[in-house]
Amino acid sequence: MLEEIKILLLGSGGREHAIGSKLLQSPGLSRLYFAPGNAGTAKIGTNVSMLATDFPAIRDFVLNENISMVVVGPEDPLVKGIHDYFIQDTDLAKIPIIGPVKAGAMLEGSKEFAKAFMMRHKIPTAPCHIISSENLDAGFSFINESSPPYVLKADGLAAGKGVVICNTPVEARKELHDMIIGAKFGEASRHVVIEEYLNGIELSVFILTDGSSYIIFPEAKDYKKIGEGDSGPNTGGMGSVSPVPFADKEFMKKVETRIIRPTIQGLKTEGIEYKGFIYFGLMKVKDDPFVIEYNCRLGDPETEAVLPRIKSDLLELFNAVTEQKLEHFTIETDPHHTATVMLVSKGYPGVYEKGKVITGEENVKDSLLFHAGTAIHPVTGEIISNGGRVMAITSFGTTLKEALEKSYASAEHINFEGKYFRRDIGFDLSP
Ligand code: AMP
Ligand code: GLY
Repeated sequence: MLEEIKILLLGSGGREHAIGSKLLQSPGLSRLYFAPGNAGTAKIGTNVSMLATDFPAIRDFVLNENISMVVVGPEDPLVKGIHDYFIQDTDLAKIPIIGPVKAGAMLEGSKEFAKAFMMRHKIPTAPCHIISSENLDAGFSFINESSPPYVLKADGLAAGKGVVICNTPVEARKELHDMIIGAKFGEASRHVVIEEYLNGIELSVFILTDGSSYIIFPEAKDYKKIGEGDSGPNTGGMGSVSPVPFADKEFMKKVETRIIRPTIQGLKTEGIEYKGFIYFGLMKVKDDPFVIEYNCRLGDPETEAVLPRIKSDLLELFNAVTEQKLEHFTIETDPHHTATVMLVSKGYPGVYEKGKVITGEENVKDSLLFHAGTAIHPVTGEIISNGGRVMAITSFGTTLKEALEKSYASAEHINFEGKYFRRDIGFDLSP
């Protein structure tokens, strides 16, 4: 009898719904579980009520259900060492995990580590200073001696809020003080990276690696600000598009030779066995790429725009990662454009509403829907909002414009009280 392939996918966002949807296209998959999942993942697999960071509960579930592979969506379990937890447990050690060990996840878990790593391996990034309570004066001097804007980054994970860009030296000195002395982001801002401001245009590049070979996924651009024209506070991401017109062949070649290859080589040199995704947050300055940040996972909402463009079997790629055979694989991508628009709750990214009934999914014909912050009402069975980002709508088009028009038309079909979305995703890209 053929072995049943059962996958446990950790996470509960649009990214996980998109990864799960892609895995379901694979003929090799027998069962798909999500922990904790959302109302959308419940339709395509089985939700298991446990947190993605509850390692003992995950251990029990994996062993009881004979799980074949664990795929980690968000960064938290990786930075907390879920992969190491599996390796160190004799019963779990043979179960493959898609996601790096803690030492690799440090690329995202510590900006100080990531910066030092890039310096060691000559990977282009903004010059920086590392400041703590011990050299606070050096931080103030640096601010006094350089010109605005100033980029201050809390070293550790701060739920996407740890980067502050200040336009005056007064603001920057106060922010530095608040982060380090006032512990604005708790332990995460005990150390702060102050770096040079890079003036350019951003994009996200993703690779899947088995530690020596890698596959480059289609690039994407996400829109982080809540307001149109990139105004207002940062969010987890309000929309995304793929491909990115300015990421032409020549530019992507530079990304590969100057950034991707030295990163993989650097991890190898440092003895870090990295099996999973690397997300390169890049800035294109004139014609050259610089790394703004590394993440140890896929982006959200970039995944919702990127994965639908992949024609290859994702489970086969994951198997190749665990067996360290990725060098034998290439990836086939759909040349169409995708555009993702995120529907969010009233109040987001501040205090937002929850529990609003969501209707109209059945009227969406031309788009893919990926649930993010949704849940099933325990009494009525209705689908309700349960987070700031509620649902991602992705459409294909022969042009970016066409893909966007379809997503916006679909956005009108989904209803919940207080629904908000940006109407200008892709506004800065030429057609
Ligand atoms: P992050 O939370 O690391 O994604 O950073 C948030 C945002 O800050 C990025 O998406 C960039 O827009 C901006 N940013 C970070 N570093 C720099 C930099 N060195 N120069 C200009 N903008 C930056
Ligand atoms: N879209 C940004 C992120 O996933 O971090």
